Amino acid sequence: MNSCTPITKKGSRAVSAEFAGLAAQPALSRADLIRILGAREKSQIEAVRAEAERVLLRNCGNGVYLRGLVEASNACACDCLYCGIRKSIREVNRYTLTADEIVACAKACSEFGYGSMVIQSGERSDRKFIDLIVEAVHRIKRETRTSQQPEGLGVTLCIGQQTRETYERLHDAGAHRYLLRIETTNPELFAKIHPGEQTFESRVECLRLLREVGYQVGTGVMIGLPGQTLGDLADDILFFERLDIDMIGMGPFIPHPGTPLGTAECPDIAERIRLALMMIAATRLKLRDVNIASTTALQALDPVGREKGLKFGANVIMPQVTPQDVRRDYQLYPGKPCLEENARECQSCLGMRIEAAGRKVGYHAWGDSVHARRRKAVPDDSR
Ligand code: 5AD
Repeated sequence: MNSCTPITKKGSRAVSAEFAGLAAQPALSRADLIRILGAREKSQIEAVRAEAERVLLRNCGNGVYLRGLVEASNACACDCLYCGIRKSIREVNRYTLTADEIVACAKACSEFGYGSMVIQSGERSDRKFIDLIVEAVHRIKRETRTSQQPEGLGVTLCIGQQTRETYERLHDAGAHRYLLRIETTNPELFAKIHPGEQTFESRVECLRLLREVGYQVGTGVMIGLPGQTLGDLADDILFFERLDIDMIGMGPFIPHPGTPLGTAECPDIAERIRLALMMIAATRLKLRDVNIASTTALQALDPVGREKGLKFGANVIMPQVTPQDVRRDYQLYPGKPCLEENARECQSCLGMRIEAAGRKVGYHAWGDSVHARRRKAVPDDSR
């Protein structure tokens, strides 16, 4: 902002007219996105935030959709340089829930009115594990049918890169959304934070496969990675647009001391929180009708981070339903919140937090993104 930029008062918050105009532009360019992501003055940030919230409410409505998160296994075949459950960390106590345990978590989601669940795990493609997830999804779809949700819970999977055949089996079992973060769309940075056998190209190929198989596809990135630039983050948003992505999950990078990136230089905590919020806002402004999650990593750095995410344009929250005795073993990064609360405590706490952000919980709904519904022209609004 230069000294001539007029500032208008709106309520008690100062709003930069220049940034209000910028955020309201219909077709944001890469350069516009970089300027938005770089906003630092309170009045600039507020202008961008307010416009992102307006765009969200206009395109997606007031609802916040919940996906109960089950961390089904922390066993992992990958060795990502940032991740607290990477295979080479021997101190991690490895666990895999049984199908009965996963189904019990699904029933808890149904009882809480969550409408959808996410089954997340370390990346494994062995037959035994895939069979387990296929069985769990089958049973969840059959055993969570209620009068409020005759088609059962919506099931989203987040279990990494798999073959086309595996994606098809899981889709046939009834999973209809899949999350696979690209982590960063800068191929050189991707190569720096992953071991050689994991390639940027194969992950992009998986995103294409998922779409072909018929999933609603989600992706996302970590924000504030060592060496990541505002240009990289703007490119991430343009990548989401190019791949016609339906849902986004992204959050700040949090160095894990037991990993090779544990001591790498990255922006300080306040800056990573700012960047993560501005990424949510800029993604909302650019993509408009996608679902955007306000992620746990944001809450790990800021006790009210998830509520802030909602105010900056997010509309999905993933409450914990993982059995309490294994939650501690699934720590991708330090400072993971909700380690002590049980699932019911998480539920009542969340409802209050969402309403405090001036929004309404979309209970008993799959909460598919407007973007996915438009693309598929699914007529049933209740999804
Ligand atoms: N900091 C922040 N996010 C992380 N993830 C894994 N490790 C970290 C970390 N240290 C994210 C990755 C992954 C998702 C499940 O968790 O983006 O895709």
